[in-house]
Order: sequence, then C-alpha cells, then structure tokens
Amino acid sequence: MNGRAAVRGPWRIGLAGLGVVGGALLKFLAEQPDFAPSGERAAIAGVSARSQKDRGVDLSAAAWFDDPVALAGSPDIDVFVELIGGSEGPARAAVTAALKAGKPVITANKALIATHGLELAKLAEAQGVALFYEAAVMGGVPAVKLLREGLVGEHVQSVVGILNGTCNFILSEMERSERGFAEVLAEAQKLGYAEADPTTDVGGFDAAHKIVILAALAFGGAPNLGAAEIEGIAAVDLIDIKLARELGYRIKLIASAEREGTGASIRVNPALVPLGHPLAQAGGALNALFIEGRRIGRFYMQGPGAGGAATAAAVAADIADVIAGARRPVFQRPAGDLAPLKGADRAGHRDKAFLRLMVRDRPGVIAAVSEALAKAEVSIDSFLQKPVEDSGHVPIVLITHPASAAAIAEAVDHIGALEAVVERPRRIRVARI
Ligand SMILES: NC(=O)c1ccc[n+]([C@@H]2O[C@H](COP(=O)([O-])OP(=O)(O)OC[C@H]3O[C@@H](n4cnc5c(N)ncnc54)[C@H](OP(=O)(O)O)[C@@H]3O)[C@@H](O)[C@H]2O)c1
Repeated sequence: MNGRAAVRGPWRIGLAGLGVVGGALLKFLAEQPDFAPSGERAAIAGVSARSQKDRGVDLSAAAWFDDPVALAGSPDIDVFVELIGGSEGPARAAVTAALKAGKPVITANKALIATHGLELAKLAEAQGVALFYEAAVMGGVPAVKLLREGLVGEHVQSVVGILNGTCNFILSEMERSERGFAEVLAEAQKLGYAEADPTTDVGGFDAAHKIVILAALAFGGAPNLGAAEIEGIAAVDLIDIKLARELGYRIKLIASAEREGTGASIRVNPALVPLGHPLAQAGGALNALFIEGRRIGRFYMQGPGAGGAATAAAVAADIADVIAGARRPVFQRPAGDLAPLKGADRAGHRDKAFLRLMVRDRPGVIAAVSEALAKAEVSIDSFLQKPVEDSGHVPIVLITHPASAAAIAEAVDHIGALEAVVERPRRIRVARI
C-alpha cells in the first residue's frame, strides 16, 4: 500500500504546490524530518510550482519540475503531495498520473475530492495505493480521520457546523465593526483571509465541497456535490445581523448533512443560531462541527480550519500514515461498493424562518402582514418592530414557527406583494441545531 519497493533512506516526497500550505509543509519537513512514529525520515525530493521563487527553505536537494504531472510520475519520488488546488487542470491531472504510476497520494484539495472523489478512489484502490485528504476538511482539525476511522461502524445521524473560515471571519467582523459585506470582504482580502476571487468561499461552494466529503464519510456513500443545496453569504445585510441579534441569534454560514433513508439532506446556507449555542460562539476564522450518532450521542469539535501551519500538520499526519503502511478505503467502504450519496426530498422539512421586511410607516401594516402569513398557513413565533428609519420606512422582523420551504416561499410572495411593503422580504433560515 505504501508504494515503496524496499527501504532505502528517507521517504522521498514529491510536492506540487508551494503556496500557503505547500510552503508550510516545506518548513515542517525541514524542521522535523523524522516526525513519523517509526522515526523514518521524510525529505522533499522534487517540487513543482508556477514560479521558481525563493520559498524561504533550502530546496537545492530537490529536483525542480515545471510540470506537476511529470513530478507525479517521477520514479524518484515515493509519495506525491498535491497542494495546488482546483477540481480540474493540473491538480486533477497530476493526482491521476501519480495514482496510475502506483504512488500514494496526499492532497488538501476538497474541490477535487468532492468532485472526482469516487473516480480517484476507484483508481487508488485498483492500484493498491493510498489516497489521503485529511487537510481537505477543517484544515488542522482531524475531522476526516475521526469520521472514517474513529466512528467506523457508528450510525452517524448528522454532521453540522461551520466549515468556511473566510465566511465566518466576514460575518463575525460585520457584526463586530458594524460594517457592510463589501467593506469587510475587501478587508478580508487585504488580510489574506479571502482570495482575490472570493466566489468559492462567499458563494458557499467551499463549505459545500467539505460537507459533501463529510457526508460521504458519515453516511457511507461517495461525495455528491449535486445533492447539496448551496446558498452563500453575499446577500446577508448588516441590518439582518443586528436584528437577528436583538432576537437572540447570530447569523452563521452553516453546512449540514442529515441522514435521510438511504441518502442525506445536505445544505449550506446562512442561518440564525441562538447566541448561547457553541456554533454562535465560534468566531473569526474558526471552524466547528457537531457530529451526532446513534450510540455516541453528540459531540463537538472546533479549531483552525485553515492557515498554512495547521493545514500542513494535517498533511504531515497523512504522510505518517503512508509511512506506517496504513491500509484503508478512501471513503468508508471500498470504492467499488459505493454510489454517489443520494440527496433527500425536502418537501416534508419544516424549518423556522427569519423574515425581515421594510414597510411604510402607516396603520394596518402589521395586520396585513399577519393576514399574508395566515394565507400561507405560516404562524409567528416572535416579532420585532423597530423605530422609523430616516427613509421613512420601518424594519419589521419576525421569526416563524416551523414551516415547509414552500409555505415560507408562499408567505414571502404574499408579503412582498403588499402595497405597504417596499422591498421583497429577506428570508434566512433558523438553524435546526
Ligand atoms: N490555505 C489554506 O489555509 C488551506 C486550508 C485547507 C486546504 N487548503 C487547500 O490546499 C490547497 C493549496 O492551497 P493554498 O492556500 O496553499 O494555495 P496557494 O497559496 O494559492 O498555492 C498554490 C500553489 O500551487 C502552485 N501552482 C498553481 N498552478 C500550478 C501549476 N499549473 N503547476 C504547478 N504548480 C502550480 C502555485 O505556484 P506559485 O507559488 O509559483 O504561484 C502555488 O505554489 C488547495 O486545494 C486548498 O483548497 C488550503
């Protein structure tokens, strides 16, 4: 399984991608080459990146490859580590080439595993080599090993958490500094918390990649991005954050997967979390996860979901597993037995919703809103009306009792059509946690 024909000196690592995580892995291996429990050493034998700039570590003993695919197939490496990123292009080509060449592969690439996990797992298992990806989910927090190994045999019911540090930072900072989304996003980009193109993070796609991987491990399928319902944070307004807080909630980007029959309900969306809940307390760039199982009940983990050093530590743990000759399927079961996890029909789901309206300041508006809700058979759990704003409009917020998405959508349509309502109501789910 570990791909080495015979023991001969240090394990030769081929590393493609020398950025935030790859650069941190270079430092890790330079400082602690004998970190594996067996005491065997690991050394960088070949590297590939776009440019040959100085990475702050002596790479004179490592061969340079312009093409990561050539590095992946090189006979002079024992393990291929992919830290380029992206579901297609060089990352996918190089991982495929390494597996075809019979090399164990380690990657932090959630986009790749979420999109092509089953095909790569089949290839790895047919070749009898490891494909490990601990760093792909929750960075330095070992969520993958926990679900795949620590909870093997457990009947996991749900995994729910905060899986994108960039969105968590932006939402936390909007609340703390009372600034709007665009301003805080620009700051996050300056601080290096957000990419120049932030779509993958703020659109909810990165969290979706991670939750579909966790769902596959938790419920015994292969990752299926198509089963996830995805909504990002770009439409969350500062006013929603402030009003939610007055009602005792904090808005978080929640990623959740709940077992349903032979499939799972998988969602990423902004959601209201009660202020006292641990997920509401996980601020800044933290990641956090609740796992609930039939025998273990519920437990919670929280930690650094990103950052070079923390993520490189997870990559190193995978290297140690390869050195130890760990043998296990890529997901919970051999890939040949797996099908993409089925999505669930959500028609019967009932969630509470936060609805925020802007209305004209005139008598009878509240009665009209109540009537519109009643028409859709949605009832009100709590209600808040704020003083008139400079614009002459009044913000009204209500939290509904649990109702189906269709009923809430109907209520939003009825309310939006009222003459006194000046803009389409904003709907945000209340998290089921
Ligand atoms: N950053 C985190 O905290 C974090 C956490 C968990 C998982 N991850 C995952 O780890 C992976 C790497 O992320 P990162 O943040 O380290 O990315 P990054 O800083 O952007 O680094 C990407 C690296 O890939 C190299 N690269 C790009 N295209 C290439 C090509 N065609 N051939 C060879 N090398 C190429 C770049 O070369 P140059 O340096 O020459 O431009 C760079 O060294 C991604 O899958 C990401 O999702 C990251």
